[in-house]
Amino acid sequence: MSNKISIWRKGFRKLIRYSDELIEEIRSSNDIVDVISQYVILKRSGRNFFGLCPFHKEKSPSFSVSPDKQIFHCFGCGVGGNVIHFVSKIENINFKETLELLANRANIALPTLDTSYQDNKKAMLKSKVYEINEIAAKFYHETLYKPTSKEAQEYIKKRRLDNRTLKSFLIGYSGTFDELSRLLKEKGYTDEEILASSLGIKAENGRIIDRFRRRLMIPIQDATGRFIAFGGRVLDDSKPKYINSPENIVYSKGRNLFGLNIAKKGDTKKIIIVEGYMDAISLYQRGITNVVASLGTALTENQGRLLRKNSEQIIIGYDADGAGQAATLRGLEILQNMGCDIRVLQIYGAKDPDEFIIKYGPERFQKCVDSAISLVEFKVKILKQNLNLENVNDKIKFLNEVAKILAKVDNNIEKEIYIDKISEEYKISKEAIYGEVNKLIYTKTNDQKILQRNPVKAYIKNEKSEKVDESIIKREKMVIYILVNYPEESYNAIKNTITPEDIKSELDKKIIEKIYEKYESNSTSDILDQFEEEEVINYLSGIMADDFGITDINKCIEDLLNTYNKEKLVNKRNEIIKKLENNNTSEETAKLEQELNEIILKLAKVK
Ligand code: CTP
Ligand code: MN
Repeated sequence: MSNKISIWRKGFRKLIRYSDELIEEIRSSNDIVDVISQYVILKRSGRNFFGLCPFHKEKSPSFSVSPDKQIFHCFGCGVGGNVIHFVSKIENINFKETLELLANRANIALPTLDTSYQDNKKAMLKSKVYEINEIAAKFYHETLYKPTSKEAQEYIKKRRLDNRTLKSFLIGYSGTFDELSRLLKEKGYTDEEILASSLGIKAENGRIIDRFRRRLMIPIQDATGRFIAFGGRVLDDSKPKYINSPENIVYSKGRNLFGLNIAKKGDTKKIIIVEGYMDAISLYQRGITNVVASLGTALTENQGRLLRKNSEQIIIGYDADGAGQAATLRGLEILQNMGCDIRVLQIYGAKDPDEFIIKYGPERFQKCVDSAISLVEFKVKILKQNLNLENVNDKIKFLNEVAKILAKVDNNIEKEIYIDKISEEYKISKEAIYGEVNKLIYTKTNDQKILQRNPVKAYIKNEKSEKVDESIIKREKMVIYILVNYPEESYNAIKNTITPEDIKSELDKKIIEKIYEKYESNSTSDILDQFEEEEVINYLSGIMADDFGITDINKCIEDLLNTYNKEKLVNKRNEIIKKLENNNTSEETAKLEQELNEIILKLAKVK
């Protein structure tokens, strides 16, 4: 594989190589929007962020960054790639230096001769802990259905959780003393491993017993579905209500969101973040599947990144109480600074989303979601709560504060809409509001680094250099796009139909071969890291950044495969017809005609 780097350490003269896994860890720990924002002012527009390309001179932004695909691409000069390529280019440093810089930025220790043994040991322990967590989730889930778990079953009924929900979230019930620890020992796990998972704790007599006992167990999975922790709820009103896995070798609560892996199976263009596990589970059961819960902490930037990566709009649905409101404000601040499009859910008549949806049903909840308010409206609303607008002083104070909030709104049309609304709702003249806002608006200095870099190597115009028909190139690009973005849906079907030989453009062929190779070896590396040539990376990032306007992916794959199947049959048919024109023995002719008939029949079917 390409891009393997080797570092010769002076003195030791021994080779240390960064593994593909490490490179991938470094890449995925450096969110591309964050990194590029340090160099380029980015503004969100729909699914992507845009800014002025730092690699060529331009007046209107054609440089795009995709948080979900974690790539950048300039539609002006054709440069593109992942975060590693960006940093390497903008800092003008090589691959190894880039990895060091990015590893440092993400606090990832790079292996040295002295640490690689320890690193290996840690990696082994981690993988054991993931295994243990999964075994535990299944064990708890099975325990829930046992006749001895009556109490838990009653509780489930009381909370109106149906069986499908229990299965989707793998909700369970813990044992009474040391059932799980004993099971894990039987399976050969060591005390060290069980303690590392936090599922066992050492009792005073030195024996290992279960941390979670007689609790309703809610497994917490990471975005890729690995089991990383548990929340355990008591079945009655005793305290503490929840016991959670402490942070450990695989679990960091600020870096995960409960329910994300499940929500991701559906549409997450908009995503609702709620406070409680139970809120998320309850909404999900009632058809609101685009929901996640924070994990008992204030929202962190890392969680914001996960949200930004997976959705276009984030709706904060915290509890209606004071604590919930404070948490909302903090969360909003964080998300806004990250360039997210945010809304705040307003629900009345219930303390939290769970209670609301049980009381009023999913349609009414969805209405609240659709009419969730913007950050500005939310801030104005909070402001108003603490003031009495009948009082002149309060009214002046209100106007001043409102002006501060509005001055931060960049978009003039947006600003005007808010001013209209506020003027009407709070009976303040538009002129007065404009007057105050304009006093505050300062000219923002553009601190974007002006970068004069080597001009980017010309973007290969594949079509021209190879004289392959444009429509074929377009189709081949689509194959690549689908393989990269929808591997689960497409890989098996496409590889069985489309072989690299069917690909006309040499560049497309090379890319498709690499993609097949990557999927065959189950490699988790970024596809863009499989290539070394800048031209190929730029070309591929262009395909990835493109919007093929796919609405129904399965239909799209089907159409594509049909096109290729049909083409293959047509070629075969023409071949046979050609052969038939030669002088053949009657036996040969009969055989060819038979084949021809079969192909014609098949052709009729694909059409
Ligand atoms: N939490 C916690 N420990 C507690 C209380 C709360 O870790 N002692 C966290 C949990 O992640 C919980 C979230 O804070 O989901 C929100 O708390 P709350 O609204 O009280 O919990 P719900 O999940 O809504 O639970 P329930 O409806 O059963 O009260
Ligand atoms: Mn609740």
